[in-house]
Parts: sequence; C-alpha cells; structure tokens
Amino acid sequence: MGFQAPRGTADLLLGQAYALNCMERQAQAVFARYGYDLIETPTFEQLDVFVRGIGEATDVVGKEMFRVFSPAALAKLGEGRALKADEMLALRPEQTAGVARAVVQHNLVPPGATAVKFWYKGSMFRAERPQMGRLREFHQVGAECLGAAEPSADAEVIIMLMRFFEACGIPREAMRLYVNSMGDAACRPAYRDQVRAFIVAHADDLCAECVRRADTNPLRAFDCKASTCQAIMADAPRITDMLCEDCATHYAQVKGLLDDADIAYEENPRLVRGLDYYTRTVFEVQVDAGLGSQNAIGGGGRYDGLLQEFGGKPTPGLGFAVGLERIQLVLRALGTDAAATPALAVYVAATGADTRTAAFSLAQRLRDANLATELDHQGRSLKSQLRQADKSGARLAVIVGSDELATGSVVVRDLTTHEEEKVVLEDVVRAIETRLVDDVQ
Ligand code: HAM
Repeated sequence: MGFQAPRGTADLLLGQAYALNCMERQAQAVFARYGYDLIETPTFEQLDVFVRGIGEATDVVGKEMFRVFSPAALAKLGEGRALKADEMLALRPEQTAGVARAVVQHNLVPPGATAVKFWYKGSMFRAERPQMGRLREFHQVGAECLGAAEPSADAEVIIMLMRFFEACGIPREAMRLYVNSMGDAACRPAYRDQVRAFIVAHADDLCAECVRRADTNPLRAFDCKASTCQAIMADAPRITDMLCEDCATHYAQVKGLLDDADIAYEENPRLVRGLDYYTRTVFEVQVDAGLGSQNAIGGGGRYDGLLQEFGGKPTPGLGFAVGLERIQLVLRALGTDAAATPALAVYVAATGADTRTAAFSLAQRLRDANLATELDHQGRSLKSQLRQADKSGARLAVIVGSDELATGSVVVRDLTTHEEEKVVLEDVVRAIETRLVDDVQ
C-alpha cells in the first residue's frame, strides 16, 4: 500500500479547504466588528507552556500531546542525556496558552492598559482516538480578550461567538449554549474538596479513571462518558451552590447581560471544560445534528490566573475556540453546506495549435483584469475543451479561432444559453465584464 495521510488527519479536498477558508473569513469579518486583531503564534511551543497553561492533570496535556524533537535533542536522548526545558517542545493542542505566553513575553497588556483583543486561526494537534468530529490535526478559530475583568467582557465574548456561528449558517435553534461559573481561587478549592470527598464516597460505583483522578483533577469526573459515572455525578455537589459572593455577583451579571441581548442559554452546573486554566464563567455550544458524541462546536471561558503562570502581572482574560471541521459536519447534516470552490468566470478555448499562444495571452489579460479564468494546457480538441468549460462552472467561454483571429476578433459563448457573439479582441475584457455585471443585476 502507498503512503496515506497519518491517522486522524485529513486532506481537505473538493471544496473542503475553501469551506474552511470561508469560515475563517467569516471569523475575520465578525470579530473585526468587536475590535479583534489577528495574531499568529508558533505551531509548537516549549512543552512547559502547555503544562503550566493547560494543566498537567488534564487529558490534553497528560495524554494527547505530540512532542517535537530537533535532531540534536534526539541525539541527546539517544545518549541518555536529559533535555533542557527549551529543548522539550510540543505541537500546540490549543492556542490560548500560546497567546497568553506571547502577551506576557511582549508585555502587551501593561497594568492599567485597555484590554487587548486577539483572534487566531490554525491547526491544533491532539493525539486523541480519532472518530467522527475528533481529529488529531484539526482547525480552530478562536478569540482572546486580555485585561478586562468585568462581566460585560464575558457577555460580549459569548455574543460574538453566537454571531460567528450564525454567520457560518448554523441556525440559532440548532444550537444549545451552556453556561456555568467555575468559581475562583477563593471558592473553588473548597468545592474541589467536596467533589473529591463525593468521589471517594462513591468509589465503589465510579469507574477506575474517575477514582484515580480524585486527587489530581476531581472535576474531570463530570466529563466522564460512562453512563454509571454520569448518573452518580448528577448528584454531586454543584459549584453554583458554593460560589463566593464576588463570583456569584459576576455570574449573575453575565447572565443578566445575555438576557438583555436575547441570547438564549441553559445553565449547566456540571459544565467544567477540560482545561485547568478556567475561572468563573465557562461556556460551551453544542448541537444535535451531525456530530454524534463529539457535539461541542465551540467553547471557552475566563482564565484570570493564566498570565501569572507565565510570569505576568495579574491580568484577567477570557476567550473561546471553535472547531471548524465540526461546523462543517453540522452544516452538512443541516443541508446548508453551501461552500464550494470559487466559481470560474471564463474558460478560454483554442481551436487548434495555431491559436494556443493567442489563447494563452488572452487568459493572462482576463486574469490581470481580476476575472477567474481557466484554459487547457494539454492541446485537447475544441470539443473536449468546451466539454471541460461546461464542467468547470464558468459562465462564459472565449473561443480563439484562426479565422476570427485573422480579423482581430474572438467568439464569446454564453455557456448557459449557448449564444455566441463575435467580439473585437481589444474589447474582449470589457465585453466579458459587462456580461458578468448584467448577470449580477
Ligand atoms: P476546547 O473545548 O478544547 O477549547 O476546543 C474548542 C473546540 O475545538 C471544541 O469545541 C471543538 O469544536 C474543537 N475541537 C477540540 N478538539 C477537537 C478534535 N480533536 N477534533 C476536532 N475538533 C476539536 C479550547 O481549545 C480552548 N483553547 C478554548 C478557549 C479559548 N478557552 C479560552 N480561550
């Protein structure tokens, strides 16, 4: 068997890459309305960025990291020597940690500064067991707002997320927005202790993984897929009953602002999300159509302690990320997956070898005039070129024949009506533009 794309990765073919690109452009358009600026951070970072940022006890860091080794680092490992921290690298499983690292490194949010807002797009890598909607390389767009602690920032981020999904074509009624508050350093430790005690008390009935994680990350038991664990954890203590006054007020204000903005949501006190950096507000958008068990199309939350993990001053922050492949699956299931490769405007056909050079230079003229144009390079017959033109989706064909060329003209053929018209070669760009404009009107 020949080479295959690695397990859990995908070649984006037949308009899929273009569909992803369309979503990225939607993100750019929507996020720009909220003042977000594009940021790029490296695809791989020092391993510690993820360990510190996301948390050692999370699945993402503990089980799903792809490590990256330079040849020199590999040689050192081969000799049994330890690697230095900056030689231990990993592909990013998400981008929030990288953005936070960059913000601290470049001091982008000095104390007292107005909030900065970044959005990003790109591949993320997680060594998960592949299944529908769960890939090892997948594409996210995300947004991070740094420097704003107020509930209005939370509401704004959530509203922007919903507007993005709507702009992609997912109807509001197909989505469920879940919100919760995870508390903060004041109230969460006591809550974790209670959940830990609850797990220990039910250890005989919970799965071994939930029991094992009771010490390191007890809240993960809420995300266990085993139905017995889910049934038991339904009776576990709820964070929302234990929020300190500041967190309770913050949460109430976020919900109030969402109500005012007519954003429908459901409170889910068991929504804990799989990354350790969250404080206070967390949210996730789920759908029923097309995704099976991987039904989260996006999620995020507040992380007021994250920048300090990278040596920054205390700086509040929050954001979200969405999975583009999952949006594509949802749109397909809803039958609204309209994305296709950009339409061609013109197909230039040559009647024979003697007019191919003229056809070639005409195609360049059309492209330079911003018209998407295709032509045959393989010397096919006119009939086969016109068949190709029909298949290509182009609106018009220009036929470059030797008789017409001798009189300085070409034939423009409407590929829908099959009407033909002789046009002076010099005027052909204008003639085509006029026809395409007429089409739009
Ligand atoms: P996350 O929930 O891990 O959050 O991922 C966000 C979205 O990425 C998910 O809702 C899902 O749509 C998509 N996704 C995650 N894993 C996969 C996968 N293996 N295959 C396909 N799609 C996947 C984050 O990544 C956080 N950084 C979000 C955030 C930003 N929180 C604050 N700021």
